[in-house]
Amino acid sequence: MIRIENLTRAFAVGRETIRALDGVSFEVQRGEYLTVTGPSGSGKSTLLMSLGGLLHPTSGRVMFDGVDIYRQSPRALAQFRTKTIGFVFQQFHLVPYLTAWENVALPLMLNGSNQGKHRQIAVGLLERVGLGSRLNHKPSQLSVGQQQRVAMARTLANNPSVILADEPTGSLDPDLTANLMALLKDLNSEGRTVVLVTHSREVAAAGDRCLALQDGRIAQAAVSQLVG
Ligand SMILES: Nc1ncnc2c1ncn2[C@@H]1O[C@H](COP(=O)(O)OP(=O)(O)OP(=O)(O)O)[C@@H](O)[C@H]1O
Ligand SMILES: [Mg+2]
Repeated sequence: MIRIENLTRAFAVGRETIRALDGVSFEVQRGEYLTVTGPSGSGKSTLLMSLGGLLHPTSGRVMFDGVDIYRQSPRALAQFRTKTIGFVFQQFHLVPYLTAWENVALPLMLNGSNQGKHRQIAVGLLERVGLGSRLNHKPSQLSVGQQQRVAMARTLANNPSVILADEPTGSLDPDLTANLMALLKDLNSEGRTVVLVTHSREVAAAGDRCLALQDGRIAQAAVSQLVG
């Protein structure tokens, strides 16, 4: 379903060119739970952003169901992102002056669809993550774990079929990490494709398959070691 072909992304820094990704190819099946590990600077975030339509590759292709997502109009690419992709970040990026339900409804409002339904959908999602009693709290009035759940509910607002998570457990204690991992597993069991980037071998083991990056390339030895 997702096919990455010979993906390269270079960044110019002064006179130097850094190849954050250097000829990466792999596939992700529909409904798969793939984890990506690798040392700091190995290209994990660059890969995830390229996968999610947020970062144009220097060369190579990102194919979703046979379509090269970067060969579409900017408008079609934006539509693809909002319809298909749900991002989960280490920082929650909640809007401080909006309530929990308003934060969750935000992506729906940006889409402009049926206004009356936004609150209903947001409330349903907050109930799903166990925050039905915190609908009108602002982020500063919520604990870290609750803020994380608001962020997850917002990620789900557009009902994405693909969830891309970049170190989502990076700032969480072990209990909250376990909660988030259980939720991701649930979302995967519902048929959503999950790609999760992490430093942690323990977290990486939660997936069906693990890809190891090193210096912008897939480290083959590590891959075969971790697969299965
Ligand atoms: N916008 C940018 N401009 C210049 N260089 C960049 C940019 N983004 C990433 N890089 C470089 O590309 C390489 C890969 O970065 P990336 O953020 O993908 O690594 P990472 O594996 O996610 O690291 P970490 O585990 O620390 O988050 C790094 O050497 C980084 O310095
Ligand atoms: Mg990163």
